[in-house]
Amino acid sequence: MNTAQPIKPIRKAVFPVAGLGTRFLPATKAIPKEMLPIVDRPLIQYAVDEAREAGIEQLIFVTGRGKTAIVEHFDTAFELEATMEGRGKSLDVLEPTRIKPGNLVTVRQQVPMGLGHAIWCARAVIGNEPFAIFLPDELMIGKKGCMKQMVDAYNQVGGNLISVLEVPREDVSSYGVIAPGNKPEGFNEALTEVKGLVEKPKVEDAPSNLIVSGRYILQPEVIDILSTQEKGAGGEIQLTDAMAKLIGSQAFHAVTFEGNRYDCGSKTGFVEATLALALERPDMADEVRAMAERLLGSSGHKSA
Ligand code: G1P
Repeated sequence: MNTAQPIKPIRKAVFPVAGLGTRFLPATKAIPKEMLPIVDRPLIQYAVDEAREAGIEQLIFVTGRGKTAIVEHFDTAFELEATMEGRGKSLDVLEPTRIKPGNLVTVRQQVPMGLGHAIWCARAVIGNEPFAIFLPDELMIGKKGCMKQMVDAYNQVGGNLISVLEVPREDVSSYGVIAPGNKPEGFNEALTEVKGLVEKPKVEDAPSNLIVSGRYILQPEVIDILSTQEKGAGGEIQLTDAMAKLIGSQAFHAVTFEGNRYDCGSKTGFVEATLALALERPDMADEVRAMAERLLGSSGHKSA
């Protein structure tokens, strides 16, 4: 087990954002799904904020055709800033989009061959150090961000970590599912040992109802396993299968996230996230609450 080795800090994060976003068409015909806003921030911004809160410096976007807007979002917008300054407007609102020069790297995934393949496409930038992965569709909102919670746990146990959460048993087939082991004694309460991992199992074959929820801290050896390019569920190169092969040779734990998760890969999840986050915003909560109550009060009326 590599827990005896010094624990290397997590400095890099990979964001697989090459997907076509077909579930949100026609909205995503000309703009990336990750740029759809939840209140006034694009979805990708929440994941990047979470990474920075966790102390991660370098952002690696695995992009594809038509995804340039994501990179533009994190670039300096000279004309916009000069115009705003000329009008005496504060630029503070753009602060979250500022990335230190050299800390944003993009690589392309030319063909959609699965999440494992997307991560493998970033191998040259990841190099030989542990790294984080964020699936931006999974919006994780907590007092302390999900990745920060994971990094805190990682600093105790090292190795590999994934965030998990419980879903109704009938939903497990849409996800990676873990076979949970013991809770390691004397460590963070949220930690559970991972004894097995399976991608999109049949309900009857699922080892639990604890699903992999889109945040990972992995050791670089996973890249060697991905290099074999073996296909799994859905004929895709699955990250879950590669991670499963690390179990036994490296420490592998799950962190139960303390906070709320919104599945922004689905339209209803997106609406839920929008409403929930608007209700938490001091500048609009009262108005949105009144609006929601009015709409719900009249839910018996069908619109014309
Ligand atoms: C991916 C992962 C899966 C994980 C899920 C979380 O699946 O392969 O293990 O549980 O994200 O959203 P996808 O949603 O890409 O099918």
